[in-house]
Amino acid sequence: MTATPSATAPECRALVLFGATGDLAKRMLWPSLYALDTDGLLPKAFRLIGAATSKQTDDEFRQKVRDAICTSANASLFDEAKFAAFAARIRYVTVDIQTAGGLDSIKGALHQGEGGVIYYLSTGPQLFGPICLALRDAGLIDPHSRITVEKPIGTNSKTAHEVNEAIGAAFEEHQVFRIDHYLGKEAVQNLLALRFANAIFEPLWNANAIEQVQITVAEAVGVEGRWGFYDGTGALRDMVQSHMLQLLCLVAMEPPAGFTPSAVRNEKVKVLWSLHPITGTDVETHTVRGQYAAGYSAGQAVVGYRDEKGASPSSDTETFVALKVGIDNWRWAGVPFYLRTGKRLAKRCSEIMIQFNPAPFNIFADIGATLSPNALLIQLQPEEMITLTLMHKKPGMNEVKLAQVPLNLSVGETFGHSRRRIAYERMLLDVLRNNSALFVRRDEVEAAWKWIDGIIDGWKTTGYAAKPYTAGSWGPSAAIALTERNGHSWNE
Ligand code: BG6
Repeated sequence: MTATPSATAPECRALVLFGATGDLAKRMLWPSLYALDTDGLLPKAFRLIGAATSKQTDDEFRQKVRDAICTSANASLFDEAKFAAFAARIRYVTVDIQTAGGLDSIKGALHQGEGGVIYYLSTGPQLFGPICLALRDAGLIDPHSRITVEKPIGTNSKTAHEVNEAIGAAFEEHQVFRIDHYLGKEAVQNLLALRFANAIFEPLWNANAIEQVQITVAEAVGVEGRWGFYDGTGALRDMVQSHMLQLLCLVAMEPPAGFTPSAVRNEKVKVLWSLHPITGTDVETHTVRGQYAAGYSAGQAVVGYRDEKGASPSSDTETFVALKVGIDNWRWAGVPFYLRTGKRLAKRCSEIMIQFNPAPFNIFADIGATLSPNALLIQLQPEEMITLTLMHKKPGMNEVKLAQVPLNLSVGETFGHSRRRIAYERMLLDVLRNNSALFVRRDEVEAAWKWIDGIIDGWKTTGYAAKPYTAGSWGPSAAIALTERNGHSWNE
């Protein structure tokens, strides 16, 4: 699903990838660029310039890109002839990304011609400012240039503001593409279609008809060798500030005036402004922090977070967080939005559940039937599925019995099981097409951080410690209590 590109611009002529040998580049970016090339979606003569600190030749670097593609989720696309054509686009330059020194070599690797250059910063956010300013000072930015940055943008609202200021000193906001890869997932984009291409939901999509909303992003993996990064971040900053709040915005936003980047983003940011603050001792009733202890994942024994490689045995960083969130506006007043995310949970699954109010009166009570409220379940991954639960009569002559049954739409069965694309393929294509609808605007990032700051301050001032949970479970029992206090329970 692609919104109308925001402006007509000449085709880009190159992408310069800073952090070209890093983990994200290897797992996601090179395999995604390769897939776009094999689909014929990269402009003719488009050049790909990898920039990193190590010294190596173009051919040595191309070999690394080849290895990365062959061990990635797109390995099945690999073909020698297609890779040879892809490799011909690639150059490598050594750049000191700490100081952004050596940018002259980028000039040398860029060919002359029409079209802008995309700078993709797959580096730590502390380097965004220095790299942007160095690009500007080296005369490498023009009105057709674009800059793409990865989350996290800062670690709180102050540092996010500083990073955005530094980017803004070199680029206009319309040139900036802030990636949240969840917005590149097909199922996430379909949320907009589900809500705004169907008339049946909108009259029910509010506090009059909806009792509660749940958003779960559960991961079975642990910190995957990233303990050093993760320990300074934690689940709230890593997942909630970005992916979970973006999902919440798509569920809760008002209908946009059109399917344009600014119309969609205007409505999303209003949701962020309406989040009820969770501050001070509210964190004790509205949030749960957890940290995984040893347990089992997919039948294998796994160590606890504090015993991971390189870990500190006294770390209190949360690997799980659950929140009860309120949205202070006319549509959602009084409806709890429960959010939960964590690592080393029972299984990988991301889903949104909208639970409607119970039937106002049960005419079947005398025959012993209880009625379960209707729910709309939107499964985002691992499979894409939409389920509406309904009460239904069990077929039979003698007695009336009711059962809750699912009305299912499996995206794979309906549209065919096509290759599951890496979300970055969509994101990179949209940067090339100058379409910023699926990218996060500066005001969204800063509004999200402002709300997150309140929770982090509350955790600090109350000394709210992370509760241990067994790896392979659904998190600490306090997360169950969070919903049960309101008479709700997590969908499992
Ligand atoms: C990233 C987080 O943004 O998203 C990771 O930094 C997390 O910690 C990942 O594992 C999850 O993404 P996905 O696409 O696998 O659900």
